[in-house]
Amino acid sequence: MEDIIICRCQEVTRQDILDAIADGATTVDGVKRRTRAGMGLCQGKTCERLVARMIAEQTGRPLSEIVPPKSRIPVRPVKIGIIGGEQDE
Ligand code: FES
Repeated sequence: MEDIIICRCQEVTRQDILDAIADGATTVDGVKRRTRAGMGLCQGKTCERLVARMIAEQTGRPLSEIVPPKSRIPVRPVKIGIIGGEQDE
């Protein structure tokens, strides 16, 4: 059961998450820093709730107390001319 994949994007297993929690991770971001769960293509849309639930189960805290991760805007390359106001004509 411990080799069940929790984060498909980064191939992080249940055991990896349990190890991160045992190492002191008490937030989704803490688990992310230790395992990369949530750093994949879906940016945690698939695994975030599973990780939060595992933290709640392992720490005995209610799920509502588990700090949600900081949301970051996806980064994409942008031509500097677009930022500077250059017009495409
Ligand atoms: S499943 Fe974890 S980042 Fe996509």
